[in-house]
Amino acid sequence: MFPEEMEKRRAVEDKLRDVVESFGYGEVLTPTFEHTQLFLEKSGPSIIEEIYAFEDKGGREIALRPEFTASVMRLYHEGMRERPKPLKLYYFGSVFRYERPQAGRYREFWHFGTELIGPDTPKADAENIALAYTCVKETGLKDFLLRISNLKILYTYLDEKGIPDQEKKEVFHMIDKEEHDELMEYTFGAELIEVLGSNLEDIKDHLDDSGPVDDLLNVLDVLELYGISKEDYEIDLSTVRGLDYYQGVVFEIDAGGLGAEKQICGGGDYQLGSIFGTDVSAKGFAFGFDRVLLALGEDLNLDKKPRCYLIPIGVESEGYCYELMKDMREEGLVIDIELMERGIGKALSYADRAGFDFAFLIGEDEINKSTVSVKNMKSGDQENVPLEDVGSFVREHHEDQ
Ligand code: HAM
Repeated sequence: MFPEEMEKRRAVEDKLRDVVESFGYGEVLTPTFEHTQLFLEKSGPSIIEEIYAFEDKGGREIALRPEFTASVMRLYHEGMRERPKPLKLYYFGSVFRYERPQAGRYREFWHFGTELIGPDTPKADAENIALAYTCVKETGLKDFLLRISNLKILYTYLDEKGIPDQEKKEVFHMIDKEEHDELMEYTFGAELIEVLGSNLEDIKDHLDDSGPVDDLLNVLDVLELYGISKEDYEIDLSTVRGLDYYQGVVFEIDAGGLGAEKQICGGGDYQLGSIFGTDVSAKGFAFGFDRVLLALGEDLNLDKKPRCYLIPIGVESEGYCYELMKDMREEGLVIDIELMERGIGKALSYADRAGFDFAFLIGEDEINKSTVSVKNMKSGDQENVPLEDVGSFVREHHEDQ
């Protein structure tokens, strides 16, 4: 990735970090590869087919992480189990999935995500969703849609229709892939399709036990306290998530303009503790960081520092230039000096092509008068500025550029 791209990524990463840290989350890091078994247990067959798994020289079955959630739960169980709860963790790193690459779908991509371990309350579900929502808002993305569901509604519905647990996953898969013909093979197929498109109050009419609907309504009440109201999301029961470990309230966020790979974030309530012999409650989400960048496109407002290029002209002792560079860097400006000993014409042409905002021209005259000739590379204006004013001069004129 080129520096310009990395600059954008870093700016978005910083924003996301600021948001999650302001919610009290602390960063963790897990290894790039894990025992394959960790992912085999609970993520479900779909993720197994999509994994980079191989045998290492020692005959161990290992896999490149396809996500962080299972690894973070391993980390929790191995070293953080005794810590006071709730435990709030976040991560940022590359993940790997063996899939057919296309626009917005990669084999190596980045996850920015969180895991909230311990609480199993509507407040915790609401915080999970509100945190993801605040993250998107902070990136500056305007065109996005938050979809929320509670998997327990469909589980209860299918239970009441007598569908065994294993088959429920298959029905979820059909819902996920919008395979309505297959759904219609069930006697209740038409009703189920109607339920998927209904609002929460109407869904209650199709359930004997409407507890899961009330649970979701409780979460929505807390979301309201975060200023996230009905207009800001859709209730969509067909949001079933691809990974098998989800259990309760789940959500996804789609970005406009991304086509088929529009989902930029997914998460919810899950159960992975059973792999380690506990039933600790957990909720989290992960952003597909690369897709967030794609969605932001040109809309990204970078807070750019002025970039200055210093060109010494026939200067005998360059101490003045190096002292100035040190001061400017301490002041937070980006400054670079001509390293190739080119003449002024060529050096200025480089400064222009490389996109510098200002060139500092320093000859004996400037040194004697304690000034700098500052050339505004955008307007072409050149001005002699007293040494002590160079920083403020550059900042002021940069804002006008
Ligand atoms: P996931 O939905 O599988 O969830 O992945 C999260 C996000 O990664 C997706 O919403 C999407 O933006 C992005 N993504 C997935 N596949 C690709 C790909 N091939 N190329 C680019 N981006 C992609 C999880 O992984 C869960 N671990 C999230 C979670 C955390 N749930 C609870 N805690």
